[in-house]
Amino acid sequence: MRAVVQRGYGPPAEVLGVREVDRPTPGEDEVLIRVRAASVHPDVWHVVTGLPRVLRVFGSGVRRPTPALPGTDMAGVVEAVGAGVSRFAAGDEVFGETIAGMQWRNAGAYAEYVVAKTDGLAAKPSDATFEQAATVPTAGFITLSNLPDLDTWEPGKRVLVVGAAGGVGAIAVQLARAAGAEITGVDHPRKLELLRSLGASQVVDYTKEDITRREERYDLVFDVVGVRPYAAYRPIIATGGRYVLIGHDHFGARGRRLLGSLPRMIGLMARSFVDPRLPRPTAAPDRGESMARLQELLADGRLTPVVDRTFRLEQAAEAIEYLASGAALGRVVVVP
Ligand SMILES: NC(=O)c1ccc[n+]([C@@H]2O[C@H](COP(=O)([O-])OP(=O)(O)OC[C@H]3O[C@@H](n4cnc5c(N)ncnc54)[C@H](OP(=O)(O)O)[C@@H]3O)[C@@H](O)[C@H]2O)c1
Repeated sequence: MRAVVQRGYGPPAEVLGVREVDRPTPGEDEVLIRVRAASVHPDVWHVVTGLPRVLRVFGSGVRRPTPALPGTDMAGVVEAVGAGVSRFAAGDEVFGETIAGMQWRNAGAYAEYVVAKTDGLAAKPSDATFEQAATVPTAGFITLSNLPDLDTWEPGKRVLVVGAAGGVGAIAVQLARAAGAEITGVDHPRKLELLRSLGASQVVDYTKEDITRREERYDLVFDVVGVRPYAAYRPIIATGGRYVLIGHDHFGARGRRLLGSLPRMIGLMARSFVDPRLPRPTAAPDRGESMARLQELLADGRLTPVVDRTFRLEQAAEAIEYLASGAALGRVVVVP
């Protein structure tokens, strides 16, 4: 099969190329999927460039990435199933993760075929395109993991999403809107119209305004980008409100090439034991349940991914660079 192969860590155009490789064989509890679309997101950029360097010892591979085929989430058609699989059959349209949640490593989705464990997969809703569905699993899992109490929200909750038009932010905005929240979204001026269409009632241009200087108070600050420290947001968090940091390394633009956002995440985690505004560390939600939830949200239209551009497998490096340029209005996808 044709697949994108990563030779080492570095700029995407220097280390990625399409090659003929063996088609993978599904294990006992795995399915073989003919990939129709795979998502391009910042963690793919991290693993391709090998930055921050700490990811190399966290499972991506010290000298070179192992496995060598990038991509962690996709949508496609089941080609064959392992002996122990009864949930899926050849011909089923599915979407999901080819990796076991929140890891910095390659997982083979930028290829004509990929194998995945069944707990990371769900049936693709018929109304969603392969391209749309492919963009949801990894970003959706991160979003749901960080909004564990979404089902219990009172209508009218004041939610501030910073970096609201990106991969994770756009899902957070749509899910919060569906939960009856009033959303203020902060992002680049080019993306504010998109942000309104996703459900933000107020939009803020980060190039012009520092949101932390506003008088308004928010019940939840969902900070995807982490450009300002937590202390800057404290004055605009309402009594009983919460602050959630996703963290973004801005494609290497913010330095921190060794450890990335990790020290900051660990600092907030430690502080969460004395500061009720910060979420305490909890186990990640069940992958199967998260995928079922994302499937339901896609199927009933509460979640409608916006796809900006589709690139061919041969253009994977260009696709990653396009994402990193910040030009995308919506998600970026690679199709074999
Ligand atoms: N999406 C996924 O599937 C996925 C998967 C795994 C991990 N993650 C992790 O989740 C985090 C977020 O990813 P993402 O996909 O949401 O990233 P993204 O698509 O790059 O979105 C980030 C958004 O924030 C905007 N932004 C930049 N600086 C800002 C500022 N000062 N204030 C407000 N907005 C600002 C960016 O606009 P500009 O164009 O101006 O920069 C962009 O629209 C990353 O750490 C990523 O590694 C995401």
